[in-house]
Amino acid sequence: FHYPLPANEPVLSYAPGSAERATLKKTLAELKKKEIDIPMYIGGRAVKTGKRIAIRPPHETSHVLGYFHAGDDKHVQQAIDAALKAREAWANMPWEDRAHIFLKAADLIATKYRSFMNGTTMLGQSKNAYQAEIDSACELIDFLRYNVHFLSEIYRQQPVSSPGIHNRTEWRPLEGFVLAITPFNFTAIGGNLPASAAMCGNVVVWKPANTQVYSAQMFMRILKEAGLPDGVINLVYVSGPVLGKACFTHPDFAGVHFTGSTGVFNQMWETIGKNIAKYKTYPRIVGETGGKDFVLVHKSADVDAAVTALARGAFEFQGQKCSAASRAYIPSNLANAIKTKLAAVLKTMKMGTVEDFGNFINAVIDEKSFDKIAAYIDAAKKDRKATIIAGGNYDKSEGYFIEPTVIEAKDPRYVTMCEEIFGPVLTLYVYDADNYEKALELVDTTSPYALTGAVLAQDRDAITLATQKLRNAAGNFYINDKPTGAVVGQQPFGGARASGTNDKAGSMINLYRWLSARTVKETF
Ligand code: NAD
Ligand code: ALA
Repeated sequence: FHYPLPANEPVLSYAPGSAERATLKKTLAELKKKEIDIPMYIGGRAVKTGKRIAIRPPHETSHVLGYFHAGDDKHVQQAIDAALKAREAWANMPWEDRAHIFLKAADLIATKYRSFMNGTTMLGQSKNAYQAEIDSACELIDFLRYNVHFLSEIYRQQPVSSPGIHNRTEWRPLEGFVLAITPFNFTAIGGNLPASAAMCGNVVVWKPANTQVYSAQMFMRILKEAGLPDGVINLVYVSGPVLGKACFTHPDFAGVHFTGSTGVFNQMWETIGKNIAKYKTYPRIVGETGGKDFVLVHKSADVDAAVTALARGAFEFQGQKCSAASRAYIPSNLANAIKTKLAAVLKTMKMGTVEDFGNFINAVIDEKSFDKIAAYIDAAKKDRKATIIAGGNYDKSEGYFIEPTVIEAKDPRYVTMCEEIFGPVLTLYVYDADNYEKALELVDTTSPYALTGAVLAQDRDAITLATQKLRNAAGNFYINDKPTGAVVGQQPFGGARASGTNDKAGSMINLYRWLSARTVKETF
């Protein structure tokens, strides 16, 4: 069974008066009216523990959307057991049947549950309709369809045979279970991490961030409806350390598919290293981690293009996108024009709840995140090495709202030029327009991360130089565009250095990590 290259799922507009807007509004009202009680899913069973944790919209913290049932180490053990029990039948299921389940899930999202995937993402993670559509509808659908295509390409790859000798490669799943650990900020990543490993024939224990449970359980229910057999993906809500204790010491632990912060990934890698002798097989460790994504503007750049790249790159999704621009290098000849126009654009961005479709900026995910971002802004207000040139206000009385904020740093290594903040804060540094080489060196050496970056220039030599000198500074590099918005199948996504193992989500590179090939030679 070979699945041809799919087209990307079209992004719906949600324009005033559109049918999709009316459907989504109805779904949002329905979701807000009922207090959902969310179980874990272990071996196909809905498991309720009675330890209920409330889910509230980050933009309206007085409202309770529902509760999820938190588990403990006993539930992690049950999830591992259920996965291992399902393993043989799943690994040996014909590939066409496995693929069909994920293709059906993609179609169910596209046609039947689009407004529910978008609605749970909007309310649970405070994304507006357009952002939810890109994430929990289109990107998730694309991940499912493209991975089926890529996997069918991999399965076709066979070695050369000769007269009297037949060689073949069997693309087997890993021996054991795979752990998928997912972050709050992207519903599509939440769905892709367990689904891509499972598609390869693996069984999975999936732990989403607590702040992602609302949309994650929706996807799990869709997978069940699409026919995913019991135990293939087991969804548990436990703390990181509880999960790690049971999984990282288990002999059948075969790999971790992680997206989240660099610090958590490093800790995990260390724990796995310490336990290496316990495992039957070397575990695959795949991590997409933090970023400090840059925009470098050359003196030849178009000012309006630079302002758009900065405004959209830094502030869409409240800056809570791993690819979001958070440090910018502006040439002295264009600095005043860019700063003035950027501040004017930010004034037009309306902030508020996701239910008003006119709002561009919504809330950041939770109080911990809000407090961390606000602390960086407060420190900049007091520091002579920095000036706030736009925004700078925040308020958590009704939801976790932070104005799009621009800091100008006098020192190119000021703290907000180096550290990941993960919020709507952009720091600019104005460099000498005649010393582009120095700016390139700063881009390359200021932060340990290498996720995304962009160069804006009309001078071809400036583009060529940046492309060469910044070879290792970004896994996804954009020329004359914002550093965000990678589309599955078009710009395979992933970072290097402290930003991850660069196994490009939604690509063959990633899928190979969940396969263990057996080569068979038969002589006759
Ligand atoms: P996080 O690291 O706090 O959490 C990620 C996941 O790890 C969550 O499910 C969390 O509960 C779990 N976790 C935390 N401690 C753990 C432990 N000790 N053992 C096992 N699991 C543990 O990240 P977050 O705040 O949810 O997401 C934001 C981060 O994710 C940012 O750093 C962002 O750059 C990164 N991110 C990266 C990409 C990428 O493609 N590179 C994409 C999205 C997000
Ligand atoms: N696909 C998302 C982006 O590139 C993560 O912005």
